[in-house]
Amino acid sequence: MTVDAKPLTTLDLIRMKAEGKRIVSLTCYDALHARLLDAAGVDVVLVGDSVNQVVAGRESTLSATLDQMIYHGAAVRRGLARALLVIDLPFLTYQVSVEEAIRNAGRTLQETGAQAVKREGGAPMVRTVKALVERGIPVMGHLGLTPQSVHALGGYRVQGRTPESAERLLAEARLLEDAGAFGLVLELVPAPLAERISHGLTIPTIGIGAGAGCDGQVLVLPDMLGLNTGFKPKFLKRYAELGDAVREAVGRYAAEVREGRYPGPDQSFD
Ligand code: KIV
Repeated sequence: MTVDAKPLTTLDLIRMKAEGKRIVSLTCYDALHARLLDAAGVDVVLVGDSVNQVVAGRESTLSATLDQMIYHGAAVRRGLARALLVIDLPFLTYQVSVEEAIRNAGRTLQETGAQAVKREGGAPMVRTVKALVERGIPVMGHLGLTPQSVHALGGYRVQGRTPESAERLLAEARLLEDAGAFGLVLELVPAPLAERISHGLTIPTIGIGAGAGCDGQVLVLPDMLGLNTGFKPKFLKRYAELGDAVREAVGRYAAEVREGRYPGPDQSFD
């Protein structure tokens, strides 16, 4: 498949949904992988606060900082030509006050060159989303399992299983669309509910663990490449086993160094 090389905008994503074109999204945390994702035609590259877990090795996303997101966001920006870049606002950078949210989201766009920010939560965040959008800051929503609320949700579990919580998710999705969000991540939501939410909105939904009825899909890059070897949730499909490839390559290198076979004449200067 060939993809148009023109840089994508948030409006393009809404148009893609209207035209029934599925949106391809992956997380990314550095310029090296960003170049590869862009060349492969990924539409939306997300610098998720999952960076705090998969790259920094921390327990949860809760301790991610704005400086950390800006550092990784700016690196990813340097690797992209076409894909839309969205950066997660970390915990406590947008919940305290609308003013703080505007300053932190604005700083994120200014210092990285990203086109949009993503933030978690529904009804309590509507005023903030509206304020950001009114100031020219495109916002992506995130409903369902919102990892920054992991302690309140009692763990990383599927959301919207009861009729009441399903109706709440539907209502919150509409509230976010009305507030001006240009897209919505749905994480760990039963597939029929995610499909219902997607059909009810004009903005695209991007699912992770939310079934095939969403308008696009996102996965955490190291997970789908098989680099995060211990992590095997039901929704994850691995498209490579790079963890095994890295272990094998490093093992061969180590053996050759120990046996004096690397470097050989081909890798040495006269
Ligand atoms: O932080 C992240 O990587 C995310 C994706 C899982 C959507 O929010």
